[in-house]
Amino acid sequence: MNVEIALRDRTYEVALGEGVRHEVFDFIRESCPRAKAVVVVTSASLRAQPWFDFVHEARVPVIEVPEGESAKNFSALEALCEELAQHTLSRDDVVVSVGGGAITDMVGFAAAVYLRGIEVVHVATSLVGQVDAAIGGKTAIDLAAGKNLVGAFHQPLRVFCDFETLASLPERERLSGMGEIAKCWLLEGRDVRSLKATSLAQLIEMSVALKATIVGEDEFESGRRALLNYGHTLAHAIEALALARDADELRHGEAVAIGLGYAARLAHALGRVDAGVVVGHDEVLDMLGLHRNVPRDLDTMDIVRAMGHDKKAHHDLTFVLAGAHGFEVVAGVDPETVARVLESFRGEA
Ligand code: GLY
Repeated sequence: MNVEIALRDRTYEVALGEGVRHEVFDFIRESCPRAKAVVVVTSASLRAQPWFDFVHEARVPVIEVPEGESAKNFSALEALCEELAQHTLSRDDVVVSVGGGAITDMVGFAAAVYLRGIEVVHVATSLVGQVDAAIGGKTAIDLAAGKNLVGAFHQPLRVFCDFETLASLPERERLSGMGEIAKCWLLEGRDVRSLKATSLAQLIEMSVALKATIVGEDEFESGRRALLNYGHTLAHAIEALALARDADELRHGEAVAIGLGYAARLAHALGRVDAGVVVGHDEVLDMLGLHRNVPRDLDTMDIVRAMGHDKKAHHDLTFVLAGAHGFEVVAGVDPETVARVLESFRGEA
């Protein structure tokens, strides 16, 4: 199945399904006839996976980069750009990222800035990458001050989401992807009853289709695209605090799941939704196997302060919240209410 992302000035596709990775190099040959070089960027551990066969078959050079969120930094970016230069990649050439969200974010950013922009194709191999990170053209690296603070919009030529790469995904990585899927399910206003009968492939397709529609309407996040940050105000705050002390403590999607549970309670406390919405959120998170526990030893006021630093906030506390008119971005939420609801949410654990 292919999902189209219709931007204002061009359209590209997300190819979804078993084995779609085998189409990557034919696609590049057909769509980039001027490309003389194609370079794959991935990590050492992904290079060792059986599904990496499609790169071996194509006999293209491979650059290895470190893995994980903590590797999305300036020194890794510099090393990658130096390697691209070693391969004498020109503006007509193509870089292919093969990996999860951290790799597609950093390689996408390198492609955005190397020679002021070269073409990139993403082969998203994790669930977070397939349902969110690789799609929509956001690329970035992190600063000590926060995640994704240095980046660019740089749309890929195409995204390949091969379900076969998910078979080797560690359980926590799978759950992390489920956090983003839960976000899409809730944004779509779907009911928990139909969730049980929905396959993983259908969940991925639903999430990609939702993201494609929103990105098509608002590529540069001047409006509706911000809704994709549902659950992310708390998620980014606890992720940043946890990442500062232990890179492996909290995965992005795990934090998003916690943020979704909290956002429902905050919307209820602000009188925007009834208690049934909170129950509905909890049922979806439970069904997908996601917990709602804020790490115990993080201080509530530190979390509230970190939420104020979110790059989506404009010097105040900003959340995507459900309400009578659907989901909307709500700015200037009272910090005392934010802290009180967070304390009570933590007390449920
Ligand atoms: N991950 C949210 C977005 O791409 O807008």
